[in-house]
Amino acid sequence: MRIGFIGAGFIAKFQASAMRFVRGADLTGVYALKGADELAAYAKSNGLGDCKVYSSIAELCKNSDAVAVLAPNFARLDIVGQIADAVKAGAALKGVMCEKPLGRTVAEAKELVRLMKEAKLPTAYFENQIHMKAVKNALAQLAPVAKEMGPVALARSAEEHAGPHEGWFWDPTRQGGGVLSDMGCHSIAVSWFALNPHGKAPDFLKPVSVNAEVALLKWGVPKYRKELLARMGVDYTKTPAEDFATGMVTFQNPETKQKVKAQFTNSWMYDKQGLRLLMDGLGPGYAFEVNSLKSPLEIFIGDAAAEAVANAELALEKATATRGLLTVQPNEADLYGYVDEIDDAVHAFAQGKDALLNWEYGLEITKLCQASYMSAEYGKTIDLTDAAVQKSLDTYTSLIAQGKAADQLGVM
Ligand SMILES: NC(=O)c1ccc[n+]([C@@H]2O[C@H](COP(=O)([O-])OP(=O)(O)OC[C@H]3O[C@@H](n4cnc5c(N)ncnc54)[C@H](O)[C@@H]3O)[C@@H](O)[C@H]2O)c1
Repeated sequence: MRIGFIGAGFIAKFQASAMRFVRGADLTGVYALKGADELAAYAKSNGLGDCKVYSSIAELCKNSDAVAVLAPNFARLDIVGQIADAVKAGAALKGVMCEKPLGRTVAEAKELVRLMKEAKLPTAYFENQIHMKAVKNALAQLAPVAKEMGPVALARSAEEHAGPHEGWFWDPTRQGGGVLSDMGCHSIAVSWFALNPHGKAPDFLKPVSVNAEVALLKWGVPKYRKELLARMGVDYTKTPAEDFATGMVTFQNPETKQKVKAQFTNSWMYDKQGLRLLMDGLGPGYAFEVNSLKSPLEIFIGDAAAEAVANAELALEKATATRGLLTVQPNEADLYGYVDEIDDAVHAFAQGKDALLNWEYGLEITKLCQASYMSAEYGKTIDLTDAAVQKSLDTYTSLIAQGKAADQLGVM
Protein backbone atom coordinates (compact mmCIF):
# COMPACT_ATOMS: atom_id res chain seq x y z
CA MET A 1 0.00 0.00 0.00
CA ARG A 2 1.36 3.43 -0.98
CA ILE A 3 1.03 5.74 2.03
CA GLY A 4 1.19 9.53 1.74
CA PHE A 5 1.87 11.75 4.76
CA ILE A 6 0.29 15.18 5.18
CA GLY A 7 2.59 16.94 7.63
CA ALA A 8 6.29 16.28 8.22
CA GLY A 9 6.84 17.42 11.80
CA PHE A 10 7.26 15.65 15.12
CA ILE A 11 4.65 12.89 14.73
CA ALA A 12 5.31 12.33 11.03
CA LYS A 13 8.96 11.56 11.87
CA PHE A 14 7.85 9.17 14.61
CA GLN A 15 5.36 7.45 12.29
CA ALA A 16 8.01 7.19 9.56
CA SER A 17 10.34 5.46 12.01
CA ALA A 18 7.44 3.11 12.92
CA MET A 19 6.96 2.25 9.24
CA ARG A 20 10.35 0.48 9.30
CA PHE A 21 8.51 -2.30 11.19
CA VAL A 22 5.30 -2.42 9.10
CA ARG A 23 5.01 -4.89 6.24
CA GLY A 24 2.91 -4.39 3.14
CA ALA A 25 3.18 -0.59 3.06
CA ASP A 26 5.61 1.99 1.67
CA LEU A 27 5.93 5.68 2.46
CA THR A 28 5.70 6.97 -1.09
CA GLY A 29 4.71 10.61 -0.72
CA VAL A 30 4.63 13.61 1.57
CA TYR A 31 3.02 17.03 1.50
CA ALA A 32 3.79 19.57 4.22
CA LEU A 33 4.37 23.26 4.66
CA LYS A 34 7.76 22.51 6.27
CA GLY A 35 10.06 19.49 6.60
CA ALA A 36 8.88 17.45 3.57
CA ASP A 37 12.33 17.16 1.93
CA GLU A 38 13.90 15.92 5.16
CA LEU A 39 11.14 13.34 5.69
CA ALA A 40 11.40 12.08 2.10
CA ALA A 41 15.18 11.72 2.50
CA TYR A 42 14.64 9.76 5.74
CA ALA A 43 12.17 7.46 3.97
CA LYS A 44 14.55 6.79 1.10
CA SER A 45 17.63 6.21 3.23
CA ASN A 46 15.72 3.78 5.48
CA GLY A 47 14.25 1.78 2.61
CA LEU A 48 10.66 2.86 3.33
CA GLY A 49 9.91 3.57 -0.31
CA ASP A 50 10.64 5.97 -3.13
CA CYS A 51 9.13 8.90 -1.25
CA LYS A 52 8.26 11.95 -3.39
CA VAL A 53 7.49 15.46 -2.18
CA TYR A 54 4.18 16.72 -3.60
CA SER A 55 3.17 20.34 -3.88
CA SER A 56 -0.54 19.80 -3.15
CA ILE A 57 -2.85 17.47 -1.26
CA ALA A 58 -4.66 16.72 -4.53
CA GLU A 59 -1.42 15.46 -6.16
CA LEU A 60 -0.48 13.44 -3.06
CA CYS A 61 -3.92 11.77 -2.99
CA LYS A 62 -3.77 10.98 -6.71
CA ASN A 63 -0.50 9.10 -6.14
CA SER A 64 -1.31 7.30 -2.86
CA ASP A 65 -3.51 4.39 -1.73
CA ALA A 66 -3.98 5.91 1.72
CA VAL A 67 -3.09 9.25 3.29
CA ALA A 68 -2.35 10.11 6.91
CA VAL A 69 -3.31 13.51 8.34
CA LEU A 70 -0.35 14.36 10.59
CA ALA A 71 -0.65 18.15 10.56
CA PRO A 72 -1.72 20.50 13.40
CA ASN A 73 -5.26 20.42 14.82
CA PHE A 74 -6.20 23.85 13.42
CA ALA A 75 -5.54 22.63 9.86
CA ARG A 76 -7.68 19.44 10.05
CA LEU A 77 -10.92 20.66 8.51
CA ASP A 78 -9.22 22.34 5.59
CA ILE A 79 -6.95 19.34 4.92
CA VAL A 80 -9.75 16.75 5.12
CA GLY A 81 -11.91 18.98 2.90
CA GLN A 82 -9.10 18.90 0.32
CA ILE A 83 -8.86 15.10 0.59
CA ALA A 84 -12.61 14.84 -0.01
CA ASP A 85 -12.27 17.12 -3.06
CA ALA A 86 -9.39 14.97 -4.38
CA VAL A 87 -11.59 11.87 -4.11
CA LYS A 88 -14.40 13.66 -5.96
CA ALA A 89 -11.83 14.51 -8.65
CA GLY A 90 -10.97 10.80 -9.05
CA ALA A 91 -8.24 9.95 -6.50
CA ALA A 92 -8.75 6.23 -5.70
CA LEU A 93 -7.94 6.25 -1.99
CA LYS A 94 -8.60 3.16 0.10
CA GLY A 95 -8.60 4.99 3.43
CA VAL A 96 -7.57 8.01 5.49
CA MET A 97 -5.77 8.03 8.84
CA CYS A 98 -5.92 10.98 11.24
CA GLU A 99 -3.95 11.83 14.36
CA LYS A 100 -5.58 12.62 17.69
CA PRO A 101 -7.53 14.63 18.71
CA LEU A 102 -10.00 14.17 15.85
CA GLY A 103 -11.56 17.60 16.39
CA ARG A 104 -11.02 20.62 18.60
CA THR A 105 -14.77 20.68 19.24
CA VAL A 106 -17.60 18.19 18.81
CA ALA A 107 -18.89 20.20 15.84
CA GLU A 108 -15.50 19.98 14.12
CA ALA A 109 -15.18 16.22 14.74
CA LYS A 110 -18.74 15.68 13.40
CA GLU A 111 -17.92 17.57 10.22
CA LEU A 112 -14.78 15.45 9.69
CA VAL A 113 -16.80 12.24 10.10
CA ARG A 114 -19.42 13.58 7.66
CA LEU A 115 -16.81 14.44 5.02
CA MET A 116 -15.36 10.92 5.03
CA LYS A 117 -18.81 9.27 5.08
CA GLU A 118 -19.79 11.34 2.05
CA ALA A 119 -16.53 10.29 0.34
CA LYS A 120 -17.33 6.64 1.32
CA LEU A 121 -13.79 6.17 2.65
CA PRO A 122 -12.67 3.82 5.43
CA THR A 123 -10.99 5.68 8.29
CA ALA A 124 -8.42 5.14 11.03
CA TYR A 125 -8.33 7.32 14.13
CA PHE A 126 -4.76 7.24 15.38
CA GLU A 127 -4.92 6.60 19.14
CA ASN A 128 -1.60 4.87 19.60
CA GLN A 129 -1.92 3.97 23.29
CA ILE A 130 -4.67 1.43 22.60
CA HIS A 131 -2.22 -0.28 20.22
CA MET A 132 0.61 -0.47 22.77
CA LYS A 133 1.84 -4.05 22.95
CA ALA A 134 2.12 -3.74 26.74
CA VAL A 135 -1.57 -2.77 27.02
CA LYS A 136 -2.80 -5.38 24.52
CA ASN A 137 -0.75 -8.14 26.14
CA ALA A 138 -1.92 -7.24 29.65
CA LEU A 139 -5.57 -7.38 28.57
CA ALA A 140 -5.16 -10.62 26.59
CA GLN A 141 -3.32 -12.27 29.48
CA LEU A 142 -5.99 -11.22 31.96
CA ALA A 143 -8.99 -12.06 29.75
CA PRO A 144 -9.62 -15.54 31.26
CA VAL A 145 -9.19 -14.15 34.80
CA ALA A 146 -11.57 -11.25 34.10
CA LYS A 147 -14.13 -13.69 32.67
CA GLU A 148 -14.02 -15.74 35.86
CA MET A 149 -13.63 -13.00 38.49
CA GLY A 150 -15.36 -10.01 36.87
CA PRO A 151 -14.20 -7.12 34.66
CA VAL A 152 -11.69 -4.35 35.36
CA ALA A 153 -13.67 -1.89 37.49
CA LEU A 154 -11.18 0.96 37.77
CA ALA A 155 -8.72 1.98 35.05
CA ARG A 156 -6.31 4.83 35.72
CA SER A 157 -4.29 6.47 33.04
CA ALA A 158 -1.83 9.35 32.94
CA GLU A 159 0.25 10.96 30.24
CA GLU A 160 2.61 13.65 31.41
CA HIS A 161 5.67 15.54 30.22
CA ALA A 162 7.29 18.96 30.62
CA GLY A 163 5.34 20.63 27.78
CA PRO A 164 4.92 20.48 23.99
CA HIS A 165 7.60 21.24 21.43
CA GLU A 166 5.77 23.80 19.20
CA GLY A 167 4.02 27.11 19.96
CA TRP A 168 0.69 26.11 18.40
CA PHE A 169 0.16 23.35 21.01
CA TRP A 170 0.34 25.96 23.79
CA ASP A 171 -2.09 28.33 22.07
CA PRO A 172 -5.59 27.13 23.08
CA THR A 173 -7.27 28.96 20.21
CA ARG A 174 -5.25 26.97 17.66
CA GLN A 175 -4.84 23.67 19.50
CA GLY A 176 -8.39 23.47 20.95
CA GLY A 177 -7.42 23.79 24.63
CA GLY A 178 -4.46 22.81 26.79
CA VAL A 179 -3.22 19.49 28.07
CA LEU A 180 -6.74 17.99 28.36
CA SER A 181 -7.39 18.45 24.63
CA ASP A 182 -3.84 17.41 23.73
CA MET A 183 -3.28 14.40 26.01
CA GLY A 184 -6.52 13.78 27.92
CA CYS A 185 -7.81 12.23 24.70
CA HIS A 186 -5.13 9.50 25.02
CA SER A 187 -5.76 8.76 28.68
CA ILE A 188 -9.55 8.67 28.40
CA ALA A 189 -9.37 6.36 25.36
CA VAL A 190 -6.90 3.88 26.82
CA SER A 191 -8.81 3.59 30.10
CA TRP A 192 -12.12 3.07 28.24
CA PHE A 193 -10.38 0.35 26.23
CA ALA A 194 -8.99 -1.35 29.35
CA LEU A 195 -12.43 -1.35 31.00
CA ASN A 196 -14.19 -2.93 28.02
CA PRO A 197 -14.68 -6.70 28.36
CA HIS A 198 -12.04 -8.41 26.20
CA GLY A 199 -13.04 -8.78 22.56
CA LYS A 200 -15.87 -6.23 22.66
CA ALA A 201 -15.94 -3.16 20.38
CA PRO A 202 -13.93 -0.14 21.64
CA ASP A 203 -17.18 1.77 22.28
CA PHE A 204 -19.02 -1.16 23.97
CA LEU A 205 -19.23 0.40 27.44
CA LYS A 206 -21.56 3.41 27.41
CA PRO A 207 -20.31 6.71 28.85
CA VAL A 208 -22.64 7.81 31.68
CA SER A 209 -21.05 10.89 33.27
CA VAL A 210 -17.90 12.99 33.48
CA ASN A 211 -16.44 15.01 36.31
CA ALA A 212 -13.21 16.95 35.72
CA GLU A 213 -10.97 19.74 36.93
CA VAL A 214 -8.42 21.80 35.04
CA ALA A 215 -5.74 24.12 36.42
CA LEU A 216 -2.73 26.19 35.45
CA LEU A 217 -0.15 25.10 37.99
CA LYS A 218 3.26 25.94 36.49
CA TRP A 219 3.04 27.96 33.28
CA GLY A 220 0.84 30.71 34.80
CA VAL A 221 3.43 31.64 37.42
CA PRO A 222 5.09 34.89 36.15
CA LYS A 223 8.63 33.45 35.96
CA TYR A 224 7.54 30.51 33.77
CA ARG A 225 4.91 32.51 31.88
CA LYS A 226 7.69 34.86 30.69
CA GLU A 227 9.84 31.89 29.69
CA LEU A 228 6.91 30.48 27.70
CA LEU A 229 6.34 33.79 25.92
CA ALA A 230 10.02 34.04 24.99
CA ARG A 231 10.33 30.40 23.90
CA MET A 232 6.95 29.68 22.29
CA GLY A 233 5.50 33.15 21.55
CA VAL A 234 2.32 32.46 23.53
CA ASP A 235 1.15 34.95 26.17
CA TYR A 236 -0.58 33.21 29.11
CA THR A 237 -1.65 36.55 30.64
CA LYS A 238 -4.01 36.89 27.66
CA THR A 239 -4.79 33.40 26.33
CA PRO A 240 -3.91 30.81 28.97
CA ALA A 241 -4.53 27.09 28.72
CA GLU A 242 -4.53 24.47 31.45
CA ASP A 243 -1.28 22.61 32.13
CA PHE A 244 -2.99 20.10 34.43
CA ALA A 245 -6.24 18.16 34.10
CA THR A 246 -7.75 15.31 36.00
CA GLY A 247 -11.14 13.67 36.04
CA MET A 248 -13.31 10.63 36.13
CA VAL A 249 -15.49 9.14 33.42
CA THR A 250 -18.14 6.63 34.51
CA PHE A 251 -19.16 3.93 32.03
CA GLN A 252 -21.94 1.35 32.13
CA ASN A 253 -22.01 -2.14 30.67
CA PRO A 254 -25.20 -2.18 28.50
CA GLU A 255 -25.69 -5.92 29.16
CA THR A 256 -24.93 -6.35 32.87
CA LYS A 257 -25.61 -2.69 33.89
CA GLN A 258 -22.40 -2.71 35.99
CA LYS A 259 -20.78 0.72 36.33
CA VAL A 260 -16.98 1.10 36.06
CA LYS A 261 -14.68 4.12 36.22
CA ALA A 262 -11.83 5.64 34.21
CA GLN A 263 -9.63 8.14 36.02
CA PHE A 264 -7.34 10.36 33.96
CA THR A 265 -4.49 12.71 34.86
CA ASN A 266 -2.50 14.80 32.42
CA SER A 267 0.11 17.49 32.83
CA TRP A 268 2.61 19.64 31.02
CA MET A 269 4.56 20.19 34.23
CA TYR A 270 6.07 16.75 34.70
CA ASP A 271 9.70 17.71 35.17
CA LYS A 272 11.16 14.23 35.43
CA GLN A 273 13.25 12.34 32.83
CA GLY A 274 10.77 12.83 29.98
CA LEU A 275 7.39 11.56 28.77
CA ARG A 276 5.72 9.12 31.16
CA LEU A 277 2.72 6.98 30.27
CA LEU A 278 1.23 5.30 33.29
CA MET A 279 -1.76 2.98 33.10
CA ASP A 280 -3.19 0.56 35.56
CA GLY A 281 -6.30 -1.53 35.79
CA LEU A 282 -7.85 -3.07 38.88
CA GLY A 283 -10.26 -5.98 38.78
CA PRO A 284 -11.43 -8.30 41.57
CA GLY A 285 -8.35 -10.32 42.54
CA TYR A 286 -6.07 -9.06 39.74
CA ALA A 287 -4.34 -5.96 38.36
CA PHE A 288 -1.99 -4.69 35.68
CA GLU A 289 0.35 -1.73 35.48
CA VAL A 290 2.27 -0.16 32.61
CA ASN A 291 4.95 2.49 33.20
CA SER A 292 6.80 3.70 30.11
CA LEU A 293 9.68 5.09 32.17
CA LYS A 294 10.63 1.60 33.28
CA SER A 295 13.06 0.41 30.65
CA PRO A 296 15.38 -2.57 30.62
CA LEU A 297 18.00 -0.04 29.49
CA GLU A 298 19.63 2.56 31.73
CA ILE A 299 22.50 4.77 30.67
CA PHE A 300 24.70 6.84 32.95
CA ILE A 301 26.45 9.94 31.70
CA GLY A 302 28.59 11.76 34.24
CA ASP A 303 29.26 15.51 34.20
CA ALA A 304 32.64 15.07 32.50
CA ALA A 305 31.07 13.12 29.62
CA ALA A 306 27.86 15.18 29.28
CA GLU A 307 29.11 17.24 26.30
CA ALA A 308 29.21 14.02 24.29
CA VAL A 309 25.39 13.90 24.23
CA ALA A 310 24.20 16.18 21.45
CA ASN A 311 20.47 15.53 21.59
CA ALA A 312 18.51 14.64 24.71
CA GLU A 313 15.50 13.40 22.73
CA LEU A 314 17.59 10.60 21.23
CA ALA A 315 17.02 8.84 24.54
CA LEU A 316 13.33 9.45 25.21
CA GLU A 317 10.45 11.61 23.92
CA LYS A 318 10.44 15.04 25.64
CA ALA A 319 13.60 14.13 27.55
CA THR A 320 14.68 16.89 29.93
CA ALA A 321 18.18 15.79 30.91
CA THR A 322 21.40 14.79 29.15
CA ARG A 323 23.39 13.57 32.14
CA GLY A 324 23.04 11.43 35.21
CA LEU A 325 21.14 8.17 35.21
CA LEU A 326 18.97 8.30 32.06
CA THR A 327 15.98 6.19 31.12
CA VAL A 328 16.45 5.13 27.51
CA GLN A 329 13.79 3.36 25.48
CA PRO A 330 15.39 1.38 22.67
CA ASN A 331 12.32 1.43 20.38
CA GLU A 332 9.85 4.16 21.32
CA ALA A 333 7.86 3.93 18.07
CA ASP A 334 7.01 0.34 18.93
CA LEU A 335 6.62 0.91 22.69
CA TYR A 336 4.02 3.69 22.22
CA GLY A 337 1.96 1.65 19.74
CA TYR A 338 2.71 3.53 16.49
CA VAL A 339 3.86 0.36 14.70
CA ASP A 340 0.72 -1.58 15.58
CA GLU A 341 -1.66 1.30 14.75
CA ILE A 342 -0.24 1.72 11.24
CA ASP A 343 -0.20 -2.05 10.73
CA ASP A 344 -3.86 -2.27 11.82
CA ALA A 345 -4.91 0.55 9.44
CA VAL A 346 -2.97 -0.83 6.46
CA HIS A 347 -4.51 -4.29 6.84
CA ALA A 348 -8.02 -2.94 7.41
CA PHE A 349 -7.85 -0.59 4.39
CA ALA A 350 -6.53 -3.45 2.22
CA GLN A 351 -9.77 -5.28 3.03
CA GLY A 352 -11.92 -2.20 2.41
CA LYS A 353 -12.68 -1.79 6.13
CA ASP A 354 -12.28 0.80 8.88
CA ALA A 355 -9.36 0.33 11.28
CA LEU A 356 -10.02 -0.91 14.84
CA LEU A 357 -10.60 2.73 15.79
CA ASN A 358 -12.50 4.73 13.17
CA TRP A 359 -13.34 8.43 13.08
CA GLU A 360 -16.75 7.83 14.71
CA TYR A 361 -14.76 6.49 17.66
CA GLY A 362 -12.53 9.60 17.47
CA LEU A 363 -15.71 11.70 17.66
CA GLU A 364 -16.75 9.87 20.87
CA ILE A 365 -13.35 10.68 22.41
CA THR A 366 -13.70 14.34 21.37
CA LYS A 367 -17.11 14.35 23.09
CA LEU A 368 -15.64 12.97 26.32
CA CYS A 369 -12.84 15.57 26.28
CA GLN A 370 -15.24 18.42 25.62
CA ALA A 371 -17.63 17.17 28.31
CA SER A 372 -14.61 17.23 30.66
CA TYR A 373 -13.98 20.90 29.77
CA MET A 374 -17.66 21.59 30.34
CA SER A 375 -17.54 19.91 33.76
CA ALA A 376 -14.47 21.93 34.80
CA GLU A 377 -15.96 25.19 33.47
CA TYR A 378 -19.44 24.75 35.02
CA GLY A 379 -18.11 23.14 38.22
CA LYS A 380 -20.47 20.16 38.01
CA THR A 381 -20.80 16.57 36.89
CA ILE A 382 -21.95 16.28 33.27
CA ASP A 383 -24.70 13.71 32.69
CA LEU A 384 -23.97 12.15 29.31
CA THR A 385 -27.25 10.24 29.25
CA ASP A 386 -29.21 13.52 29.10
CA ALA A 387 -30.27 14.34 25.52
CA ALA A 388 -30.17 18.08 26.28
CA VAL A 389 -26.52 17.79 27.43
CA GLN A 390 -25.60 15.90 24.24
CA LYS A 391 -27.27 18.65 22.21
CA SER A 392 -25.39 21.38 24.07
CA LEU A 393 -22.07 19.58 23.42
CA ASP A 394 -22.74 19.95 19.68
CA THR A 395 -22.26 23.72 19.90
CA TYR A 396 -19.88 23.91 22.87
CA THR A 397 -16.48 25.60 22.63
CA SER A 398 -14.72 25.85 25.99
CA LEU A 399 -13.77 29.27 27.35
CA ILE A 400 -10.17 28.03 27.28
CA ALA A 401 -10.37 27.23 23.54
CA GLN A 402 -11.94 30.65 22.96
CA GLY A 403 -8.89 32.24 24.63
CA LYS A 404 -11.08 33.70 27.39
CA ALA A 405 -10.05 31.67 30.43
CA ALA A 406 -7.78 34.08 32.37
CA ASP A 407 -10.39 34.29 35.17
CA GLN A 408 -11.26 30.58 35.11
CA LEU A 409 -7.61 29.59 35.38
CA GLY A 410 -6.81 32.36 37.91
CA VAL A 411 -3.85 33.85 36.02
CA MET A 412 -1.70 35.78 38.50
N1 LIG B 1 -0.17 10.28 18.94
C1 LIG B 1 0.68 11.06 19.55
O1 LIG B 1 1.25 10.69 20.56
C2 LIG B 1 0.98 12.41 18.98
C3 LIG B 1 2.18 13.04 19.32
C4 LIG B 1 2.44 14.30 18.76
C5 LIG B 1 1.52 14.91 17.92
N2 LIG B 1 0.34 14.25 17.63
C6 LIG B 1 -0.67 14.90 16.76
O2 LIG B 1 -0.13 15.01 15.44
C7 LIG B 1 -0.51 16.23 14.83
C8 LIG B 1 0.74 16.98 14.37
O3 LIG B 1 1.55 17.27 15.50
P1 LIG B 1 3.14 17.46 15.38
O4 LIG B 1 3.67 17.37 16.75
O5 LIG B 1 3.70 16.62 14.32
O6 LIG B 1 3.19 19.00 14.90
P2 LIG B 1 4.42 19.78 14.29
O7 LIG B 1 4.13 21.22 14.48
O8 LIG B 1 5.70 19.21 14.83
O9 LIG B 1 4.40 19.41 12.72
C9 LIG B 1 3.31 19.75 11.92
C10 LIG B 1 3.63 19.48 10.45
O10 LIG B 1 2.46 19.79 9.68
C11 LIG B 1 2.81 20.76 8.68
N3 LIG B 1 1.64 21.61 8.42
C12 LIG B 1 1.16 22.65 9.13
N4 LIG B 1 0.05 23.13 8.55
C13 LIG B 1 -0.17 22.38 7.46
C14 LIG B 1 -1.13 22.40 6.45
N5 LIG B 1 -2.13 23.28 6.45
N6 LIG B 1 -1.04 21.49 5.46
C15 LIG B 1 -0.02 20.58 5.45
N7 LIG B 1 0.93 20.53 6.39
C16 LIG B 1 0.85 21.42 7.37
C17 LIG B 1 4.01 21.50 9.24
O11 LIG B 1 4.73 22.14 8.20
C18 LIG B 1 4.76 20.35 9.88
O12 LIG B 1 5.46 19.62 8.90
C19 LIG B 1 -1.35 16.97 15.87
O13 LIG B 1 -2.70 16.77 15.61
C20 LIG B 1 -0.98 16.32 17.19
O14 LIG B 1 -2.04 16.35 18.13
C21 LIG B 1 0.08 13.02 18.13
